[in-house]
Amino acid sequence: MIDDTLAPAASLAFAETTHPAPVDANERARLLENPGFGRVFTDHMATVRYAAGKGWHDARIEPRAPLTMDSATSVLHYAQEIFEGLKAYRLADGGTALFRPEMNARRFQSSARRMAMAELPEDIFLSSIRTIVRRERDWIPAIDGGALYLRPFMFATEVFLGVKPSAEYLYAVIASSVGGYFKSGAPAVTLWVSEDYTRAAPGGTGAAKCGGNYATSLVAQAEAIRQGCDQVLFLDAAERRWIEELGGMNIFFVFADGSIATPPLTGTILPGITRDSLLTIAADLGITAREEPYAIDQARKDAESGRLVEAFACGTAAVVTPIAGMKMKAGGFQIGDGRPGPLTQRLHAALTGIQRGTAEDVHGWLDRLD
Ligand code: PLP
Ligand code: COI
Repeated sequence: MIDDTLAPAASLAFAETTHPAPVDANERARLLENPGFGRVFTDHMATVRYAAGKGWHDARIEPRAPLTMDSATSVLHYAQEIFEGLKAYRLADGGTALFRPEMNARRFQSSARRMAMAELPEDIFLSSIRTIVRRERDWIPAIDGGALYLRPFMFATEVFLGVKPSAEYLYAVIASSVGGYFKSGAPAVTLWVSEDYTRAAPGGTGAAKCGGNYATSLVAQAEAIRQGCDQVLFLDAAERRWIEELGGMNIFFVFADGSIATPPLTGTILPGITRDSLLTIAADLGITAREEPYAIDQARKDAESGRLVEAFACGTAAVVTPIAGMKMKAGGFQIGDGRPGPLTQRLHAALTGIQRGTAEDVHGWLDRLD
């Protein structure tokens, strides 16, 4: 939609400015002991600007700092904003790697298309991430499950109140040292099935990673917390019956016959990279994996009859998180014995083994940086 062919992407080198007063090594070590999720940030960020007629330009690595903007900047009014989430891992041999970052680059482009934004060329996305990770690799926590979470994002920067696609964008990447996503530390999470709110309708933005999808999920997530659950589970908007996904994760089900299933990509759910990877890993392990619609009433019946034995959430932040059970207005139900199931644990181990370099990377998913 917007011409991004003007800037010769290959020539876009990042001008690097080193932070004059980075966090000192002792303080960093203290922060990395128990970073939680999304609270500890590294010293630098990457930024690239776009303007119609000029293309992508002004690529920088610079000290992470507040962004100042005009009060009429269009993102503040019409929410043209998208983001991504991926992790850099410390490998068993001491190296550093990203996991399938080109998939994030492509999803970022498809999110941009849906939001009528300029598409960032894949090579600029990848070089921004690799440059930040090479600089900030000391921020990868050495704790179990620790990683450097990269948050690329882009928003409309044109100063204009007319409702139209912005002619200018700022793309940026920040990095956050993280441990596990869930605070509770429980071995399995519980889901609140949202019957009053939906996340995405056919023709809407469900398959795009835009901030607006998360804004609209918050009231349902707050309801989940009030109900004593960890995460909200959304149903489809048309029939309020078909299981879609969680506020920030995809979902899988494990059946007594040893097969697994996940809702299909119909345009209303996010095409998760973890989801895609697990479908491939399942096939590698000889596990039958289906992408098929699954109704909430059927899930309840199957949990009660013993046909549905395990369920888990998956995503970059959540990795593979067992689901103990679900709660809804009509009451709750437990899945299996409510504890992490064997197939869930097997898939978790297979995925993290590849990500941490302890299992063979047969699909070439690791992007090794050193
Ligand atoms: N669904 C939603 C709504 C998400 O926010 C995420 C996280 O990015 C996912 C699914 C899982 O996607 P991925 O595995 O690419 O992280
Ligand atoms: C991720 O897993 O990367 C997510 O984006 C989920 C959430 C933190 C928004």
